[in-house]
Amino acid sequence: VGQDEAADVDAGRFLRMDFRFHAMVVQVTQGLFKPIPISAPPLPGNPATPAKVALGKMLYFEPRLSESHSISCNSCHMIGMGGVDLQETSLGHRWQHGGRNAPTVYNAVFDVAQFWDGRAKDLEQQAGGPLVNPVEMGTTETHVVEQLKGIPGYAGAFAKAYPGESDPITLDNVRKAIAVFEATLITPHAPFDRYLTGNDKALDATQKEGLALFINKGCVACHKGVNIGGGMYAPFGVVERPGADILPPGDKGRFAVTKTVSDEYVFRVPSLRNITLTAPYFHTGKVWDLRQAIAIMGSSQLGAKLTDDEARKIEVFLGALTGDQPIVTLPILPPSVTTTPRPKP
Ligand code: HEM
Ligand code: HEM
Repeated sequence: VGQDEAADVDAGRFLRMDFRFHAMVVQVTQGLFKPIPISAPPLPGNPATPAKVALGKMLYFEPRLSESHSISCNSCHMIGMGGVDLQETSLGHRWQHGGRNAPTVYNAVFDVAQFWDGRAKDLEQQAGGPLVNPVEMGTTETHVVEQLKGIPGYAGAFAKAYPGESDPITLDNVRKAIAVFEATLITPHAPFDRYLTGNDKALDATQKEGLALFINKGCVACHKGVNIGGGMYAPFGVVERPGADILPPGDKGRFAVTKTVSDEYVFRVPSLRNITLTAPYFHTGKVWDLRQAIAIMGSSQLGAKLTDDEARKIEVFLGALTGDQPIVTLPILPPSVTTTPRPKP
């Protein structure tokens, strides 16, 4: 055979090997991660109906749920912007800053529990929190109900969402409706999901190298499953505690929930889906550069000093975790009338 043909034979062998290698890699990868489903998952005890999802969307965008009538869920978890607010810590009631960075609501439905410390067991339980948090929406549970009852247009929307209930405007029903709406905020079809479901070309060569590093360096020990995270708790600083600028001593994370010493500085491992859209990073929001966040993870969680090139490749791989962003049409909210409770400063 001539030189060209020999080269062809080699290329053919290489491609076949690459194919077998690819099949193996995909098999391993499929065991570690799962694609985002294409439709909203059902919530136990809280069946979704179109009327309930529609009501949940109204409430998500409803600024009158806040004491000042100027803050809605969407103020801190902006749809169209990764489900976050792009702040280190959110600006809430009376221009106060909260203590932690706002995580995205996208795909939150797949996480084992809600909040950085997992103090709410699911979306439904979580949704009551911000309403009454003095530095978020600053209202009270009774006022939420008074406020909604004072907006005549909500009577019909709640009646449709909760047919057969005599007094459907309750805090519980507010939470349930918001939760079913949030369950629709999922981001399927990321390049990585297409790769997981068998499309080898969905990732380019650098993304594949990044994926291999992500697995081999050990990131996957914590960031795995459908959300590439969100499934477990771990100390921030397993091997080496980051400095007080990134991990200030005051916030002991999950310790506040369990009061167990071994839970000091333990946080829920965050999802890495859509991570390139959700800077700044960590519960303190102190790190704006994703590559720097990756390098910190290397040293704090794995005791590994990643080279710039390794961190860059992992960053490129993480870019393949951005899926189709939810497209949400803004709801038309029912108007206030003269008797509707007014905003308080
Ligand atoms: C956490 C939804 C209002 C700031 C969360 C989480 C969800 C959520 C699902 C947990 C996400 C996760 O753990 O991955 C909502 C809903 C709201 C609302 C449905 C309206 C009822 C707000 C507002 C602000 C805010 C108005 C800002 C003023 C935050 C912050 C966290 C958080 C800082 C993290 C708190 C912690 O972990 O301790 N929110 N949110 N949220 N949200 Fe909201
Ligand atoms: C946070 C990536 C290894 C546990 C993060 C964040 C990124 C990341 C980008 C910030 C997410 C956000 O703010 O939304 C990586 C990479 C790793 C790695 C690339 C491998 C080099 C690990 C390991 C563990 C872990 C092995 C568990 C032992 C956590 C925890 C946080 C986190 C608990 C939250 C820290 C906090 O803000 O309190 N990771 N991670 N990570 N990761 Fe990792």
